[in-house]
Amino acid sequence: MSEAVAHESLSAEDAKFFQQEGYLVLPGFIEPDFNSRLITEVDELMAHREAKDHRHLVSYKEMGLLTSHLPLMEKLEVLMGGRFSMHHIHSARHGAGNGGVNWHQDYEQYPQTNRSHLMVHIFYYLNGLNGEIGDLLVLPKSQNMIIANGGLKLFGTQDLPGSLCVEDLTPGSAIIVHSGVWHARRPKPGGEDRPRYFIDVSYCQHGVLWPAYGNHMDEINQTALESGLGRDGRYDYVYDASHFYERGPIREQFEKMNEGSLALKLKGIG
Ligand SMILES: [Fe+2]
Repeated sequence: MSEAVAHESLSAEDAKFFQQEGYLVLPGFIEPDFNSRLITEVDELMAHREAKDHRHLVSYKEMGLLTSHLPLMEKLEVLMGGRFSMHHIHSARHGAGNGGVNWHQDYEQYPQTNRSHLMVHIFYYLNGLNGEIGDLLVLPKSQNMIIANGGLKLFGTQDLPGSLCVEDLTPGSAIIVHSGVWHARRPKPGGEDRPRYFIDVSYCQHGVLWPAYGNHMDEINQTALESGLGRDGRYDYVYDASHFYERGPIREQFEKMNEGSLALKLKGIG
């Protein structure tokens, strides 16, 4: 994909594909210079982690900028039909022998009951995928099959009926995934001389409260805004923690009332 195409916002065709299939592959989405700066920064991050020097990822220049990367923001504005806030950014460097991840889905909701609002994960493969270390498995159209996040674990990393295996992607590729889509990482041999650079960033559509990411969202968002990631105010809303709630305090109360048909306990029903 040329840089010009990558900077256009989402086509109606792509939006429709995403809505139906639950994912959208963007080959070579990150332009090469930015991509190589990100790779360098992930190496720095790994060195910091080894030295127990833990910093918020938004405080790293390039990874911070990735969280409000303009071509992505423009696509999300179309998919979300409006505003959204960042849930988290994770960065990793997977080495040979990485154990993979069993089938799961990452939609944040407690308990899992509907898909009224959109949450997406953007998977960035900075040095692509080549069939070594781990392949991405995706089950298209699974975003609306409501199941607990870890409820698919028993399927391991085997193919499922209709699932896709993504094992060949050019460097700088991104995949926008509806967070409710079932996915896995299947371990593969090889990659001793070529670790896999992986970043995922997720965003939640405004309109409902979402379970927060950890206990430091306020601090993370403040760091992001102070670092200019809001891009002169245009994307300050991406770093707004008021769209999230802390699940811990309500868990105990909820578990007490979680019996039978929950719908009967809602005001106005029953
Ligand atoms: Fe995941």
